[in-house]
Amino acid sequence: MNDVQDERGDIVIAEGLMKHFASGPTTVKAVDGVSFRLPRYAIVALQGPSGCGKSTLLNLLGALDRLDSGELIVDGISVSHLSGSQEVFYRREKVGFVFQQFNLIPQLSAIENVTLPMELAGVSSNGRAGELLERVGLAEDRHDRRPAKLSGGEQQRVAIARALANDPPLLLADEPTANLDSKTGRLIIDLLRSLRADNRSVLIATHDEAVAATADMVLEMSDGKIVSSTMQRKEQPEEPVPAGGSRLRRGFFDTLRKGLDELGR
Ligand SMILES: Nc1ncnc2c1ncn2[C@@H]1O[C@H](COP(=O)(O)OP(=O)(O)OP(=O)(O)O)[C@@H](O)[C@H]1O
Ligand SMILES: [Mg+2]
Repeated sequence: MNDVQDERGDIVIAEGLMKHFASGPTTVKAVDGVSFRLPRYAIVALQGPSGCGKSTLLNLLGALDRLDSGELIVDGISVSHLSGSQEVFYRREKVGFVFQQFNLIPQLSAIENVTLPMELAGVSSNGRAGELLERVGLAEDRHDRRPAKLSGGEQQRVAIARALANDPPLLLADEPTANLDSKTGRLIIDLLRSLRADNRSVLIATHDEAVAATADMVLEMSDGKIVSSTMQRKEQPEEPVPAGGSRLRRGFFDTLRKGLDELGR
């Protein structure tokens, strides 16, 4: 599926990304010629004033919206050139989304919300959704509760577990702490940071200075452009656990990959 080799092995390579919207007689240049790279296993904060294009950029990275032009490579896959069915596969396998409003399905319990993406991928979720909920720190007596019976922080933990359901290498979080009090927000950011040790990269759009302060790298947007890119840590991001390591049961993810392969990669 349009595999691209990159000697630096960065998780994201973006060149000249463009997304404009027609707005009456004018054009909104939401993403206006954006180029950047994201290193693997890093926590990256995407900052900038309201309306500067952060959500639009995340949507492009997640293939929730189509580029007008530009080259986008995520985990070696050329997102700019995916066919419709490849796009569905890409969204399911390569990226996980976390939103400000949590966006859980209200009729489903916490564990059913996490199970759903696995079922949509045609993969058995036997016990694994529970494992993910444990990973994000949701107490076991909450697993069968519906979202309305969970606190905001608990709902966001469920949303993060759901985003991890199909083991994507890249997590995209759009203002994940904006609906939480500051203490709960910090706990959620600590959780997102801990995912780096699971061989994952996380891009967080945020207005929260405290989030940006703890990121490995900060991208600053203004008027649809990236105006600065700052590495905040001199050392390389922490060594991830080796591939095949013990993060969640590898067997599950191997089964998942196989199932998805059979679905027609
Ligand atoms: N589907 C759309 N149709 C028309 N204009 C849009 C659309 N989506 C976004 N825009 C416009 O593109 C610009 C960038 O919006 P975007 O939501 O990406 O900003 P943002 O940086 O995420 O803002 P915030 O911090 O408030 O979430 C804004 O001017 C917005 O009104
Ligand atoms: Mg936004």
